[in-house]
Amino acid sequence: MKTINPTDRILVLTGAGISAESGIRTFRASDGLWEEHRVEDVASPQGFARDPHLVWRFYKKRYKQAMSVEPNPAHYALKKLEDALGDRFWLITQNVDGLHSRAGNKNVIEMHGSLNTAWCTHCGNRFPTEEIDLEAELPPCPSCNKMLRPDIVWFGEIPYQLDRIQSLLDRATLLIVIGTSGNVYPAAGFVMQARFLGARTLSVNLDAPENKGFFNEFYQGKAGEILPHLVDEWLK
Ligand code: OAD
Repeated sequence: MKTINPTDRILVLTGAGISAESGIRTFRASDGLWEEHRVEDVASPQGFARDPHLVWRFYKKRYKQAMSVEPNPAHYALKKLEDALGDRFWLITQNVDGLHSRAGNKNVIEMHGSLNTAWCTHCGNRFPTEEIDLEAELPPCPSCNKMLRPDIVWFGEIPYQLDRIQSLLDRATLLIVIGTSGNVYPAAGFVMQARFLGARTLSVNLDAPENKGFFNEFYQGKAGEILPHLVDEWLK
């Protein structure tokens, strides 16, 4: 196994698989969330316009579940890596569960939004979910009383902080992608960009991802088992 160099700038991309061992369901597994729900019903602006009650029920359940679980050894391994690398480490996540921050990572970009916030469809203000009335079927905005929406980037919407992500991709020397099927763009394309820009690329995933061909190294298995060992090796 190649180690990491003191000059490496590491960019990590995570997906639902890194939270699986914390007890959060992934999307595309046979028992995944998208087996039970139609993406267009609960994860699109059109679905929200059609039936906001259904969409709020879906995200309230996911919020309560995320609050009831804990980060797992894979999250803590990434915290250890950031502690060692400081600002040469950045973490981009497609997850909305907040578990990376709860594990202690600071340099985190939540590109698909967060269950921990909601924003107002009328005045545009954003609020911590713990400050809104989740008992209400359609939680009202604390400042203007109009309808809030979950702070999730839905299909057809633009992921957050793409400019910042692009500049991190431009500078990264090592891209580590963990627990994502490689189905959803633009995140699924980051490995191609990193490769074309000359970075080393590494995947830790239970199943072979769609974009497996773009990785220099593929570690197959559970992130919570593989990642702590990889990080310990690198930091020796
Ligand atoms: P998926 O459900 O598509 O993929 C999860 C991946 O994690 C699969 O490739 C699994 O093999 C892998 N996996 C499962 N358990 C694992 C473990 N313990 N360790 C390592 N890998 C494991 O989830 P994402 O790729 O994150 O977007 O999905 C991307 C986006 O699609 C999500 O952010 C979400 C979804 O629709 C929105 O909701 C907008």
